[in-house]
Amino acid sequence: MNFNIGKGGDIEVLLVLGESAKLEKGIELFSYLKEKELFTGKLSEVYADVSPKGDNIILLGLGEVEKLSINSIRRAFHKLGSELMKFKIESVGITIPRFADLCYTNTTKAIIEGLLQSEYSFEKYLSKKKVLPTVKDVYLDVLEDRKDKTVGIIEETEAVLEGVFLARDLVNERAINMYPELLANTAKDNLKGLEVEVEIFGKSEIEKLDMKAFLAVSEGSNKEPKFIVMTYNGDPDSKEKLALVGKGLTYDSGGYSLKPSASMETMYTDMAGSAAVIGAMKSIAKSKLKRNVVAIVAACENLISSGAYKPGDIIGSMSGKTIEVLNTDAEGRLTLADALWYAATVVKADKIVDLATLTGACVVALGNVTTGAVTNNEDLMSEVKEASELAGEPIWELPNNEDYKELYKGTFSDLKNTAGRGAGTITAGLFLGEFVNDVPWVHLDIAGTSYLDKAAGYLPQGATGVHVKTLFNLVKGK
Ligand code: BES
Ligand code: MN
Ligand code: ZN
Repeated sequence: MNFNIGKGGDIEVLLVLGESAKLEKGIELFSYLKEKELFTGKLSEVYADVSPKGDNIILLGLGEVEKLSINSIRRAFHKLGSELMKFKIESVGITIPRFADLCYTNTTKAIIEGLLQSEYSFEKYLSKKKVLPTVKDVYLDVLEDRKDKTVGIIEETEAVLEGVFLARDLVNERAINMYPELLANTAKDNLKGLEVEVEIFGKSEIEKLDMKAFLAVSEGSNKEPKFIVMTYNGDPDSKEKLALVGKGLTYDSGGYSLKPSASMETMYTDMAGSAAVIGAMKSIAKSKLKRNVVAIVAACENLISSGAYKPGDIIGSMSGKTIEVLNTDAEGRLTLADALWYAATVVKADKIVDLATLTGACVVALGNVTTGAVTNNEDLMSEVKEASELAGEPIWELPNNEDYKELYKGTFSDLKNTAGRGAGTITAGLFLGEFVNDVPWVHLDIAGTSYLDKAAGYLPQGATGVHVKTLFNLVKGK
């Protein structure tokens, strides 16, 4: 799908907003369709009048004026994209109007994003493809004084969506083909040609770094753990550095605290945090954003073998803190403990955001719609929240009272890796906070939002690539 600026295309898309849609063209058709209740202009409703001898117009409903938002525009244009494919349309023209309360730049981005979203599907294991993109050219007729700016908007939105799709592909890939070494190599391949340095540390280097907690989790697998550090210096004049840390369990069986088999079916997605940071690095570097960002992933598998760590084990960590492993299925926080400590003390990041499919409790609390968040710094939390709202990827901050921290204090060790049934997402999050060395930090629990059992709006079934857009917006700033 190529985006061009100006008028053009075989088919013209007419936007229908509100009861009294101000249609210059198609008004008769719209009145007729409304009368017969064939098309009323509801959000994402599409009516296509396309044939060699017809008008060759498509009506796209945008719903009521008061309810129109950037996210509803994304949804409507995603639907339009799917319909264009259904009608095997090759080129379309869309006039982008100014919607009263919405920023024109964000409106344009949402239209482009929505259309691009319709082309994603994970089909590498299908003998017969299901989604066959047909649209070659989209002509965006923008306001005269916006023409120059639109070139950059198109490029940026394409770069962002490339990162989102990369994240989805990484998560959708199964563990048989996405173990630590392959995750590391795929990250490197995808960042090739961009200004990102990719370092991949193997087991002996991880041992030298004294990452005892990360290593303990990795012991049950014969696949070597990999510690992946991706460095992008977009602002060499500045000393500021943002670290993005992603949970990278390429498979989580639970270990000796074995999961029931139904819960294991999707545990190849337990590296969605790492996919988000890798995808975001791609978008950030492609767009040449002027910020220094370091993405960090401790990649391993949580399996069973005679070498695997066991419930009751007391292990060390890079920070020096000791941890009693009450449950080997609470493994993410152990790998992240060392990755976060590395971000805070070796990278010396001055802000850290981590993303992790950390707790089933988060899915119970917030479902698949909203990401759970925990922080030690409200200013950084506000920044992340703003970035996520702009992205249409909602997050919800959970409380971080000191009282919760008592729950994971150890008896025979400094800390324990589980803290009882209550407030599981909070205690897991605050446990991570013990390893950031007081650096401003936000934790995002994406257990519910990174994977969907069924498609929702522009998000497909399977991996969503959630928070690539949030991270991009956060790094870009205002
Ligand atoms: N990867 C899981 C969390 C998860 C659950 C992600 C469902 C996506 C969907 C994590 O490692 C885990 O197993 N957490 C345990 C923690 C518990 C043992 C304290 C959980 O949530 O049950
Ligand atoms: Mn687990
Ligand atoms: Zn896990």
